[in-house]
Amino acid sequence: MQHLLTGFEFSQEEYLSILELASKMKKDPRAYCDTLKGSAVAIMMEKPSLRTRSTFEIAAYRLGGHGVFLDLRGGDLGKRESIPDYARNLSRWTDCLIGRVFSQHTLEELAATGSVPVINALSDLYHPAQAMADYLTLQEHLGKLQGLSLAYLGDGNNVANSLLVAGAILGVNVTCFCPLGHGPDIQIFNRANEIAKKNGARLDVIADPSKIIGFDALYTDTWVSMGDNTPLDEVKKIFMPYQINETLVAQSGAKVVLHCLPAHRGYEITDEVMDGPLSAVFDEAENRLHIHMALLAKLVKSRG
Ligand code: CP
Ligand code: NVA
Repeated sequence: MQHLLTGFEFSQEEYLSILELASKMKKDPRAYCDTLKGSAVAIMMEKPSLRTRSTFEIAAYRLGGHGVFLDLRGGDLGKRESIPDYARNLSRWTDCLIGRVFSQHTLEELAATGSVPVINALSDLYHPAQAMADYLTLQEHLGKLQGLSLAYLGDGNNVANSLLVAGAILGVNVTCFCPLGHGPDIQIFNRANEIAKKNGARLDVIADPSKIIGFDALYTDTWVSMGDNTPLDEVKKIFMPYQINETLVAQSGAKVVLHCLPAHRGYEITDEVMDGPLSAVFDEAENRLHIHMALLAKLVKSRG
């Protein structure tokens, strides 16, 4: 049985086969309408969501299964009953636990105590299913992944960490441009970097935004992630040099701009870029659905 907790679980071959299956499902979703017939997946969320919640529910439905949404924003997980007891109950009724949680440990505990696959739908450290949809989008727009160079700009958060992990495995060169003290998780970076070296790819973290030159694609995310109540205007001064605007896009030479969304227009990205010709942000949002279909098909079946 396989889980997707960090993104480190899958080999390059597995990543490529998930991307390929997602592409096939995108072209002909009806061909897969019985793939998970009679199955149910639990979608557990401690934080808000538009894309992840909708696309996992629709993915389960399109595969012939059913998604049960558990709104845990009130803090019930681990409080109303223990995390292992959530996992043990839900494992009796469902075939997969999809969790959006404050702490990565919660997902690890669900996986250790339940008996069905667990998918990370965003934690403090990772957003691995997002990164898969992002790389599918880059593959569609740029025709390949191996050897591409991606610049991530802004806060070195869960999304940045997952882009590094999946990029390393897929052979994409990923450079994070982040203010000092806001870089990606160092342990995740080091682990991903070892993999990147074996795959002939390069990972970097650079503070100086004037170095954003010669990249195939740009990516950004919010400067303040869910769970952090710091007002955006408080951090604006340190992050503004990393804003994706038309000047920065021209300087970078990039052909595609991504954002996992939700976007804070006028902060990490301007309207002109987000609504401009290089923006692939809504293709990227669409691809969440196709990737989630492929992931559910693979992981639910991995149960045997
Ligand atoms: N990108 C993403 O995960 O969006 P949601 O928070 O709306 O699910
Ligand atoms: N880094 C953001 C991603 C939202 C999809 C957050 O964790 O809030």
